[in-house]
Amino acid sequence: MNKKLSACITGLGMCVPPKILTNADLEKMVDTSDEWIAQRTGIKERHLVNGQTLSDLAGIAAEEALQGANLQGKDLDLIIVSTTTPDMQLPSASCLVQKKLGAKKAACFDLAAACTGFIYALSVANQFIISGAYKNILVIAAEVLSAITDWQDRNTCVLFGDGAGAVVLQPTTEKKGIISTYLAADGSFSDFLEVPAGGSRQPASIETVQQRQHFLKMKGNETFKVAVRMLEEAASKAVSLAGLNYKDVDCLIPHQANIRIIKATAKRIGLDENKVFVNVDKYGNMSSASTAVGLYEAVKQGKIKEGSIVVLTAFGSGFTWGACVIKW
Ligand code: UT7
Repeated sequence: MNKKLSACITGLGMCVPPKILTNADLEKMVDTSDEWIAQRTGIKERHLVNGQTLSDLAGIAAEEALQGANLQGKDLDLIIVSTTTPDMQLPSASCLVQKKLGAKKAACFDLAAACTGFIYALSVANQFIISGAYKNILVIAAEVLSAITDWQDRNTCVLFGDGAGAVVLQPTTEKKGIISTYLAADGSFSDFLEVPAGGSRQPASIETVQQRQHFLKMKGNETFKVAVRMLEEAASKAVSLAGLNYKDVDCLIPHQANIRIIKATAKRIGLDENKVFVNVDKYGNMSSASTAVGLYEAVKQGKIKEGSIVVLTAFGSGFTWGACVIKW
């Protein structure tokens, strides 16, 4: 009988554009202060594209992940890109990345689950691997949120940044890799965090542009409250599906939207703060790229070692939320 397959992360990559926008820079753009931003969100700076496209960032992160896995583009069976800000509406970002990587035999699709997209994409890739359908899968979470940010709205423009994280997943018969995933959504919150125009409901028009309807709108305070609850719920469900307890967890990588959300989530879970990964200060909220870049940096900083139990948990527009437990 064949041994049970697990999906193992064999390569990691990330890319943030070099241009940095600090809180001091924002003070010159809108009525805000470094003090307000740092205290209310924990963010000090964020990276923004300056001519680069989403597929550029995704391609650079992907190249690094492929190198780590000792693979070339031509070896890939599938590319999934989680994003809310593809280069253009058609074709998908994943097809543009495929072209950059020369990944001619890979099937390609984009996945839209907002900030939870990396976890949704890992879950989908995991299914393809454990079923035996595909062997070499590239999952990228990439966002150019600066393209849908209203730089005149202080409620949102201080929060977001651009970046990409990538992983290669391959099958293993060893007892490691993705142990469990949990996905959830509730569309009744759809108007809490949205970009109203540009889709088929309100196609682009002079009016939609004048009314700034192509930018991200968020009911911040209301979203905050649900986020804390759901980040914990998702982590708890995934840990229990893995047959583990919170005391087994070595590293929690929560979605990086706000340091107060991260701390409140850690408190609800009862996890020591030194086990909770934070990089929101450097990058702001990069939507689905946040957990992917968090995983990359936690590994590079030695916070995740062989055998570590890692929990990713995320929450975002939709609302969507979900978590993933990985044995490293
Ligand atoms: O990634 C997907 C999920 N996203 C999230 O989970 C984000 C969730 N929300 C948040 O992180 C927080 O709600 C925010 C950081 C967006 C806002 O923090 P808050 O503590 O909830 O503030 P608030 O919206 O209740 O606003 C408090 C005050 C308001 O002034 P008044 O009405 O009390 O006079 C705002 O106008 O802070 C004001 N304010 C600002 N002041 C200076 C809002 N933004 C700013 C700003 N600078 N940038």
